Amino acid sequence: MNRRVSSIFAWHLVLAMGAAIAASPVLAAEFGPVKQMEVDANKAALGKRLFFDPRLSGDAAISCSTCHIPAKGFSDGLALSKAYPGSDGFRNTPTLINAARKAAWFHDGRIGTNLNDVTRESITETYSMNMDMRLMQERVKQDPVYVKMFKKAGYGEPSNGSIRKAIPEYLKTLTSRGAPFDAGKMSDAAQRGFDLFKGKAGCAQCHSGSRFTDDAPHNTGVPENPDIWSDPKRHLTYVAFGMFMGIENYMNIRRDVGAHIRTHKADGSDIGKFMTPTLRELTYTAPYMHNGTIKTLEDVVAFYNRGGGSDGNKDPRIKPLGLSKEERANLTAFLKSLSGTPLTGPEHVWKEKINVNYAVIEDWLEQKN
Ligand code: HEC
Ligand code: HEC
Repeated sequence: MNRRVSSIFAWHLVLAMGAAIAASPVLAAEFGPVKQMEVDANKAALGKRLFFDPRLSGDAAISCSTCHIPAKGFSDGLALSKAYPGSDGFRNTPTLINAARKAAWFHDGRIGTNLNDVTRESITETYSMNMDMRLMQERVKQDPVYVKMFKKAGYGEPSNGSIRKAIPEYLKTLTSRGAPFDAGKMSDAAQRGFDLFKGKAGCAQCHSGSRFTDDAPHNTGVPENPDIWSDPKRHLTYVAFGMFMGIENYMNIRRDVGAHIRTHKADGSDIGKFMTPTLRELTYTAPYMHNGTIKTLEDVVAFYNRGGGSDGNKDPRIKPLGLSKEERANLTAFLKSLSGTPLTGPEHVWKEKINVNYAVIEDWLEQKN
């Protein structure tokens, strides 16, 4: 409960920051490369192994990397994500590249504190990895490789608290690099697209800074993904989520309320707002939007050119743009120039086999630590 309350406060801070950014003129200088973050190498190496280890899920069937796949920019190529065996997801899996720099996480921005909390939610939610933190700790302690790695990382004995620190440390290593945009190697078409992006097309009003996001939620009128309501496994997951999150009328509602989960505005004007996503690494992360309803970047540009979707609460800055065919192609070329070298080498991916067999722990709740 405390976590929810404290993240509500953090959320207001995020909103205030978003407003401050929106009010300032967008300067070209804001669009530099994403800076590498300082990381502790031993802690990050441990976090990397944990990220690829299915023993962190309740039935040892899925790991973080089941959904966040390195070759797909740490997303999964699906419109809507998978979920814990027996259920199915209702949101598109976002990239984790540069995610350590975000001000609020998940498509609705419901966690505005830190990656430790995001990691906890990812591990424990029933529809995600459905794991009990105490059981996870006991399983990790069984593995001599981990015992060594935790020691080397300065954590002492494996504990659930240090697992939630080590994974974020690894996530900090996932930083974009090598994009033609950063290297000054954009094609002429992409360069003209960048001018449109900052000018006539108005994209930079929300997609600003080195990650191309203001870290704030907006309503662009993206239509619902009907699969969430027609597929019982997805629908049940959404109902469970709605119940935990306090969505009014969660049994009957047939839409993803988005940032309303955090702000709960009585007039519902926050319904259908989603966090502005980064525009980096898009060539690896199709399909797009919080529910994967737009398949290609060409289609995204066509969507904006039409003036977005239809929604009573749509942001007034989303309006028909009247871009010519050539201008649309230039804008798409620009978006493609923001993707860099894939993070698929051993520096970012745990390549050694992880033996997922473990001895069943009797009375794990009674383990003394
Ligand atoms: C079953 C698929 C699945 C698994 C397993 C999974 N994730 Fe995710 N992850 C998602 C989806 C889907 C979202 C977006 C959820 C939302 O918006 O409600 C997400 C969101 C995130 C985010 C927020 C990104 C952003 O841009 O706001 C982070 C960070 C993250 N996951 C890390 C992890 C870590 C660490 C693990 C392992 C402990 C993990 N995930 C396991 C599917 C998964
Ligand atoms: C009013 C703020 C705003 C403006 C202006 C805006 N966007 Fe967006 N953009 C968003 C939000 C919010 C989303 C996420 C919507 C969702 O998930 O439902 C988004 C999503 C996207 C995505 C999908 C990314 C992904 O990973 O799913 C792309 C690409 C994109 N925008 C490009 C553009 C371009 C190009 C323009 C200019 C023509 C533009 N945006 C203008 C706020 C904005």
